Amino acid sequence: MSALVATSESPVTGAHSHASVLRVEELHKYYQMGENKVHALRGVNVEINRGEFVAIMGASGSGKSTFMNILGCLDKPSSGRYLLEGIDVAGLDKTQLAGIRNRKIGFVFQGFNLLSRTTALENTELPTLYARLDKAERRARAVESLRLVGLADRTDHFPSQLSGGQQQRVAIARALVNRPSILLADEPTGNLDSRTSVEVMEIFQALNDKGLTIILVTHETDIANFARRSIVFRDGTIRRDESISRRSFAAELIRTMPALGD
Ligand SMILES: Nc1ncnc2c1ncn2[C@@H]1O[C@H](COP(=O)(O)OP(=O)(O)OP(=O)(O)O)[C@@H](O)[C@H]1O
Ligand SMILES: [Mg+2]
Repeated sequence: MSALVATSESPVTGAHSHASVLRVEELHKYYQMGENKVHALRGVNVEINRGEFVAIMGASGSGKSTFMNILGCLDKPSSGRYLLEGIDVAGLDKTQLAGIRNRKIGFVFQGFNLLSRTTALENTELPTLYARLDKAERRARAVESLRLVGLADRTDHFPSQLSGGQQQRVAIARALVNRPSILLADEPTGNLDSRTSVEVMEIFQALNDKGLTIILVTHETDIANFARRSIVFRDGTIRRDESISRRSFAAELIRTMPALGD
């Protein structure tokens, strides 16, 4: 059942059995804007262990996306260290970074970023094109991924034939298909109504229960409360870092919400 989710026992990532999935030390990020230098991250230190579910919060412009882009190897820090499963990412060139990104990291964004003329199954399968897998294996993984997000019966639908929540679930399936060590989600419920948001959080909670490490940016405390730990950014630094004391459980909450039809 949990074959798609990399856990500490997983043969996929089993070489790294230590608990720390990632660690950043004195992370700084500057953006040069003509004459001006924007100091987006100002010395961030944090360690995240396997199986954690972290909500990143903070005001607009506080550095959340900058931090996520560095964690996702989409961008490099100006200074400081980033260790991803013990690998010092700063020392890697572009090709190596792309390789790490494809193998170890799954991304989910606010806009679902699905290809519109492509079915749910084909969208999900896309990231496997870079993996050395034969066609049957790629297809099987995509089907399994869609099953994990509850969309086994929607494989042949195009994005326009799916609800917003279903489209986001396809995006989650696509993020899982290469069995990543970490799932990074930047405001994944930003475009969804509240019931659909809770449904998406139910999927995240179920995946986290199976051992997947999840880091999610949100502006909403209600959404952050589905995580296990919250980290609040302010002006490029971590202002607060604490475990969530009264956690919400999406599966329970959904039972009390009125159905809107599918
Ligand atoms: N590519 C860029 N070039 C120049 N400045 C940037 C760039 N990306 C971000 N910044 C600046 O860095 C700071 C942090 O931006 P970031 O996008 O990380 O904020 P955020 O916390 O994600 O905000 P939001 O909640 O609005 O998404 C901001 O002041 C922003 O203007
Ligand atoms: Mg942002």
